[in-house]
Amino acid sequence: MYPIYHHESLDSTNIEAKRLAEEGAIHGTGVIADNQTGGRGRLGKKWHTVGGKGLYCSIIIRPEIGLEDYPKLTLVAGLAVSEALYELCGLRAQLKWPNDIFFQGKKCAGILAESSPLSLEEKERFAVIGIGINVNQALLDFPADLQQTVTTLYRETGKKFDIETVFVSVRQQVLFYIENMEKNGFRPILSEWCKYDYLLGKGMECVDVEGKVIKGVALGPDENGVLRLRTAGGDVVEVLSGDIRLAR
Ligand code: BTN
Repeated sequence: MYPIYHHESLDSTNIEAKRLAEEGAIHGTGVIADNQTGGRGRLGKKWHTVGGKGLYCSIIIRPEIGLEDYPKLTLVAGLAVSEALYELCGLRAQLKWPNDIFFQGKKCAGILAESSPLSLEEKERFAVIGIGINVNQALLDFPADLQQTVTTLYRETGKKFDIETVFVSVRQQVLFYIENMEKNGFRPILSEWCKYDYLLGKGMECVDVEGKVIKGVALGPDENGVLRLRTAGGDVVEVLSGDIRLAR
């Protein structure tokens, strides 16, 4: 049995999971918080926590993969979460590169994968897969500016879910897909991921860290998990990071 550390409140489950991993916690260790006071999202954004109604968790993994494969973990975890949600609700999610899980164009879950310092020796390396899932919230539980863009499992199915049951299912799928990647590489996972690609063929904009906007049509991620888009001039551009949104 893999351990679960379930807290009433933490600043961020990712921070607590990193602390445990540095102390030697095993592959598969899970941290859950009913409430987070400093939940973090990608690109330094805040992750809105609705105490007791969502799943806020982190999973420590010690994958047998090369350092060059660590950036792919966000896509691997996204696919794993979408499979868990399919198992739990019978609904197929769409995956928005790199870390969002959508139902009907609205965000239901997000991934924040963080790696141990690259300087660590191979046997000490780890990653923390932080996962936030909107589970039992009503839309009114979110601030007004989020109500148009988010959804929850409750809203999609009309059913309430036990948070720890959702966690167990998510962790099982995350560990399954990590093992799969160790054995068979990233390619089969990528081709599965691409079946649910929300952006594919759509006009999109990427705002990079300096605020520069790149526009184009999404071509999907390449074999390294890097998003490609075709600009109006016909060039294929790689997007490594940045805020991704549909073109207006
Ligand atoms: C995103 O969509 O930008 C990623 C959101 C990740 C949120 C989860 S909640 C549990 C874990 N702890 C954090 O502080 N963040 C992740």
